[in-house]
Amino acid sequence: MTEYFKNVLLIGHILTALLQTTITHPSQPLAISLLTRLTSTAKFPTHPSIVQIHKGDTKDPNFLATAFTRQDIIISAISPYALLDQKLMLTVASKVGVNRFVVGEFGLDTRDEELTNSVSVFRQNREVLEHAVGVCGGPLGMEYTGVICGAFLEMTLLDGEMGFEFGSRTVEVYDSGRKKIEVSRMGDVARATVEICFQPGRWGGELVYISSFTVSQRDIIDVLNKVDKKGPWEVVERTTGWLKERGERRVQGGDMMGLVDEIWAVAFSDGVGEAFSRKRRLVNEELGIERRGQGDFGGVIRGVVWEWEAGRRK
Ligand SMILES: NC(=O)c1ccc[n+]([C@@H]2O[C@H](COP(=O)([O-])OP(=O)(O)OC[C@H]3O[C@@H](n4cnc5c(N)ncnc54)[C@H](OP(=O)(O)O)[C@@H]3O)[C@@H](O)[C@H]2O)c1
Repeated sequence: MTEYFKNVLLIGHILTALLQTTITHPSQPLAISLLTRLTSTAKFPTHPSIVQIHKGDTKDPNFLATAFTRQDIIISAISPYALLDQKLMLTVASKVGVNRFVVGEFGLDTRDEELTNSVSVFRQNREVLEHAVGVCGGPLGMEYTGVICGAFLEMTLLDGEMGFEFGSRTVEVYDSGRKKIEVSRMGDVARATVEICFQPGRWGGELVYISSFTVSQRDIIDVLNKVDKKGPWEVVERTTGWLKERGERRVQGGDMMGLVDEIWAVAFSDGVGEAFSRKRRLVNEELGIERRGQGDFGGVIRGVVWEWEAGRRK
């Protein structure tokens, strides 16, 4: 068994956490390659750990085979709009000797069919996972891993998701607003994912579960009302049925944010599924991140308010 997965190919946005491994794992340097689309406008830093940037047609198996050859691990944080592209990527990776493929999950518990069956993006996650199961374990022995983390806490709030709208300081509360869901700090998700590179004997053929906090919409409101010096937020009561219908209308009108409505409509639906920390084993500590307490939650939400006020988001 290799000591660690040294040669890493990244698709998507967790480069900062990969580069921080020069501090967290100084004796185990990574050789990082990046895969980026021909049409991409992404800018990448110059850094001694970044050994190659493969820019090309991510639907071309020959381009993928060149990029994937000699990689130990591929980490796919690919766009939710391109999830199915991972099927070709998995097939190619399994043929050129990649050891591990971290598939783009990074969300709700896609194994919970009650929760995720009705949402197209989660059906795509499951289609990719089934494909991964099919191509893994072949003669070259590739394994897959997926990271389930719940909502990206800071990003979803600042992007006006989960019902929270910082511009107008209003929140739409769906159903009771007391349904608990898992939320994770984005830094925690990135760090836990990167840690997989340093534990090559573990997590193969698994979805792993991490969560920074388990909270409801009303828990978030309570904390916001304490830390937001501008005073209490306005609450608008809605149902998840209303949200689902709005999502469907938006999608029919070509607004893909409707897909996000569909996600929160199931996530906050009373009685549908439950917070995964209640039935799955969380592996936070094994992947080097904390399961955080309520005291920390106030600090994180205060940070989100500061970020909003500093104008870091629209
Ligand atoms: N749990 C949550 O709350 C939450 C929230 C958001 C996202 N996520 C998950 O996190 C993962 C990454 O999402 P993200 O929002 O970071 O993705 P994103 O910003 O939309 O895209 C990430 C990268 O994917 C690459 N890409 C490849 N094919 C693409 C295509 N056809 N269209 C657009 N981009 C393409 C692009 O890299 P290049 O430009 O370099 O080619 C892009 O920068 C996904 O699994 C998503 O479901 C979870």
